[in-house]
Amino acid sequence: MTEEKSRHMTPDEFRKYGRAVVDWIADYQERVESLPVAAQTPPGEIRASLPPAPPETGEPFEAMLKDVEEKILPGITHWQSPNFFAFFPANTSGPSILGELLSAGLGVQGMLWATSPACTELETHVMDWLVSMLDLPETFRSDGPGGGVIQDSASGATLCALLAARERASDYSGNTVGADGRLIVYASSQTHSSLEKAVKIAGLGKNALRLVPVDDNYAMRPDALSEMIQKDLVDGLKPCMVCATVGTTSSNAMDPLPQIGRICRTEGVWLHVDAAMAGTAAVCPEFRHIHEGLGAADSYCFNPHKWMFTNFDCDCFFVADRAALIQTLSILPEYLKNQATESGAVIDYRDWQVPLGRRFRALKLWFVIRHYGVEGLRRHIRRHVALAQEFVGWVEASGDFELAAPAPLNLVCFRHKGGDAVNQETMARVNGSGRLYLTHTMLDERFTLRLCVGQTHTEARHVRGAWEILQETAREVAESR
Ligand SMILES: Cc1ncc(COP(=O)(O)O)c(C=O)c1O
Repeated sequence: MTEEKSRHMTPDEFRKYGRAVVDWIADYQERVESLPVAAQTPPGEIRASLPPAPPETGEPFEAMLKDVEEKILPGITHWQSPNFFAFFPANTSGPSILGELLSAGLGVQGMLWATSPACTELETHVMDWLVSMLDLPETFRSDGPGGGVIQDSASGATLCALLAARERASDYSGNTVGADGRLIVYASSQTHSSLEKAVKIAGLGKNALRLVPVDDNYAMRPDALSEMIQKDLVDGLKPCMVCATVGTTSSNAMDPLPQIGRICRTEGVWLHVDAAMAGTAAVCPEFRHIHEGLGAADSYCFNPHKWMFTNFDCDCFFVADRAALIQTLSILPEYLKNQATESGAVIDYRDWQVPLGRRFRALKLWFVIRHYGVEGLRRHIRRHVALAQEFVGWVEASGDFELAAPAPLNLVCFRHKGGDAVNQETMARVNGSGRLYLTHTMLDERFTLRLCVGQTHTEARHVRGAWEILQETAREVAESR
């Protein structure tokens, strides 16, 4: 087969088109602020613009890039716009994108230490760096019985935590005979939906999930947790895991880890702590109080792919006792056997996650940490928190709006005093304008606006602009009713 017929991109072609793609991304970064933040396309419009059948013969690269610009871009919601305030952020940065590109270029599959030692060892090293960067408990370091691993998502981390908790609670019999229908999981009513998914996948059944009531700040009530556990014990059930959240998705509520941890220790229940978005704040010493009591946790996760300038996917998952996780997830078929594994001297991360295969995700995180330095990361996190707190001040000083929940970090929950319909319509109009994008939640059955400051390039002028647009739009909506 001649080189031409193979259609493989030559290194020279790769250089040429690679530069074009990098240029495209850099241009995108320069103009993203001018694009409508939330995609304005109706369902089906993007698909309808695509040819029904794949091309029989290869197409020029230029045609693909042109289609990205003309057909794909209109259907993109610009998560990297500085006017993106919706959900929790999924921010990124130059070093992260380049690390991701290198990872794709190396094309490593790091299921075993032996399939690419650097992939495993860099990951272990970066995870240990993070333990000190966030001042996490020493038990999470890999040189003791614990350790860290990069998962695809917080959902994946929570599932792995629950599987290990299930096995520990059943003397490792669950993997053999299945869950016995007596294992119970506890989380606040504000916990992320990924826990319910994990409970279902782990075979415990949705009825095994107890939703613990919250206090006035939407944080788990330890007294209610304790009561539920005691009742289940009396009923002959087996408390298996508590999932506490540091920074709930709805309102950034902080479950009280010290009290929850004490209950878990007393009852021998696995404590998993989900700090998906808020965890990154601990890079700043003044925000480390969010992790007070984390020493009692069996596992913990946070997402650099939310707030640490590292593009999706990258969830950092730590366990205090890796043996429980490995005993739960390890299966060693003949075709994966190798000397390094048998020596016991290496980590095989395939035993720490659900899939077998794994990408070289540590590269992008390593690049981000080295590019910004810890101090550089702190500067941006502080900036985001300060901007959100400034927004809190405007809401508090406003006669028309009110705060709906405490805002400990970078998420502000607020509402117009005109009621649900005004808030709903205001959000729809603001998002429809394309000038900014924010989302909502329900708190105490009231429609509540959420504004989260965490996009890499969000500056004071964007937050100020968002507040002005929101005020103006709400005024129009209220007056039109
Ligand atoms: C507290 C919390 N946990 C878990 C998740 C799920 O994150 P992922 O998309 O990484 O699974 C989120 C997402 O926003 C979250 O806010």
